[in-house]
Amino acid sequence: MSIGQKIIHLESVDSTNNYAAILLSEGRIGHGTVILADEQTNGRGQRGAKWSSAAGVNLLFSLVLLPDNLSVSDQCVLTEITSIALIEFLRKFGISAKVKWPNDILVNGEKIAGVLIENQLKGNNIGSSIIGIGLNVNQRVVDLPRVTSIVNHIDTPFLNLTETLLSFLASFDSCWKNYQLHGKSHIREIYLKELYQLNEHAFYADQDGEFEGVINGVNEAGLLQVIKRNEVKTYEIKEISFIYRNAF
Ligand code: BTN
Repeated sequence: MSIGQKIIHLESVDSTNNYAAILLSEGRIGHGTVILADEQTNGRGQRGAKWSSAAGVNLLFSLVLLPDNLSVSDQCVLTEITSIALIEFLRKFGISAKVKWPNDILVNGEKIAGVLIENQLKGNNIGSSIIGIGLNVNQRVVDLPRVTSIVNHIDTPFLNLTETLLSFLASFDSCWKNYQLHGKSHIREIYLKELYQLNEHAFYADQDGEFEGVINGVNEAGLLQVIKRNEVKTYEIKEISFIYRNAF
């Protein structure tokens, strides 16, 4: 089944990722199914954070994938495909976005979309993956620092959410096919071109405190590589934060 061929649209749910997990465990949905909600009562973000969004103005959805033969060690390709799909989708509106590692999508340094990927393992492979996406579409004013929406960057005052979702799913479908045709190295190359602060001096914090460093890539396992005091350090998501102040 292709991406988005089946869309389950709910008015309200705790979290589209939770709902997708239940349907998956009951064997009731297949590859490419999308769970879409107008409102989430317990939307979840990365690192145990909450994902809040006003009802009916943004896209809150989970895309279910059943990858063929994707090993656990290569799971970061799902993050990369999703980030590229979001960036290519935004480009259709003339919006230029970057991916803040691993998968926050930023426009001029402000977050426009967040991604929470939850994988279910089958031996050494990814049996299924739930790709949860919160995409800010019509919410002009967001009560959080460094957050934006699509409408803040285009002339149209309000976008049709169903059409917007279908347009994103077309972008995702094309990235997914690209991956199947050309493999993970090709996807990695595209992802790196879209990486926020790649090769730029900026401030970060790790367990030893704040430092000025330069992101110089992402390794095979999907970990962030940062040059810190002339040495390349590798970080997992919980081990590094981006610090917002001006570099030299
Ligand atoms: C982040 O922290 O940036 C990730 C946010 C992911 C939010 C989406 S909204 C749809 C899906 N359901 C959830 O509970 N979370 C994801």
